[in-house]
Amino acid sequence: MGSEHPVIEMNSLWVVYDHTHPALVDVSVVVDKPEFIIVIGPNGAGKTTLLKVLLGMIKPTKGWARVFGFDVVREAEEIRRLTGYVPQRDIINFEVPLSVKDVVLMGLLPKKRIPRIPSSSDLKRVEEALEFVGMGDLWEEKFSDLSGGQQQRVLLARALVSEPKLLLLDEPLSAVDVASQDAILRILRHLREEGTTIVMVSHDINPVVEYVDKIMLLNKRVVAYGTPSEVIREEVFSEAYGYKVKIIEHAGVCYAITGDVHA
Ligand SMILES: Nc1ncnc2c1ncn2[C@@H]1O[C@H](COP(=O)(O)OP(=O)(O)OP(=O)(O)O)[C@@H](O)[C@H]1O
Ligand SMILES: [Mg+2]
Repeated sequence: MGSEHPVIEMNSLWVVYDHTHPALVDVSVVVDKPEFIIVIGPNGAGKTTLLKVLLGMIKPTKGWARVFGFDVVREAEEIRRLTGYVPQRDIINFEVPLSVKDVVLMGLLPKKRIPRIPSSSDLKRVEEALEFVGMGDLWEEKFSDLSGGQQQRVLLARALVSEPKLLLLDEPLSAVDVASQDAILRILRHLREEGTTIVMVSHDINPVVEYVDKIMLLNKRVVAYGTPSEVIREEVFSEAYGYKVKIIEHAGVCYAITGDVHA
């Protein structure tokens, strides 16, 4: 990995799942240093698709993307080694009940060579990652017995146990109460200060606006990309969501009032 490469480069990227309806249209964005970026936009705007392209899970129909200089199509293995991912809906519904520790180990073992047997230093890293997200006490618990917010923290621990340079998070704050949201956002800010780039899809901009460097407003196309003060403007949001969005200001921070609508 060369640090001379931008973290993320997307160049005229298109994803068309069927032949008629593109999910991403001509997306070009460069992230050239570690930043905390949120991606927002209506349902069906292509947010999850964008993260999956960066992980090499979906191939661009046109254009190209690189992460740390690695091509998402040809060098996805390299990218996954450096990247932690929290999927939008993770159905961890196994026949064998998994402990919290086992779930977090899943973030480490695929990056190891076969045979993938956890070492004592792996278990130490798992313990540290769980402590980092405030779940150190629960590592022998059954994952399925945890609350939604606790599960979300464990999934975050799984994404960051390998100390990734890039974290891709797909709505990690959904189903999480306000106190846990705050805890997670503080963890993310800390990681960002340590040099991790975070790309987080968020349903709601308001809880995160104070924490982020950049906002990407996506509706198949990139409607806007910039700092919160550049992006949080009524005309920009109204274009992305297709209806009038109100922006209010409170204590020096702008908040967007959007509903839950479809693209
Ligand atoms: N595997 C797939 N096959 C076909 N179409 C898909 C597939 N995945 C997503 N799509 C379509 O691509 C578009 C974008 O989907 P995507 O999941 O990226 O949106 P999103 O912005 O993450 O939405 P949400 O806010 O609901 O999570 C949608 O129209 C969706 O139906
Ligand atoms: Mg999605």
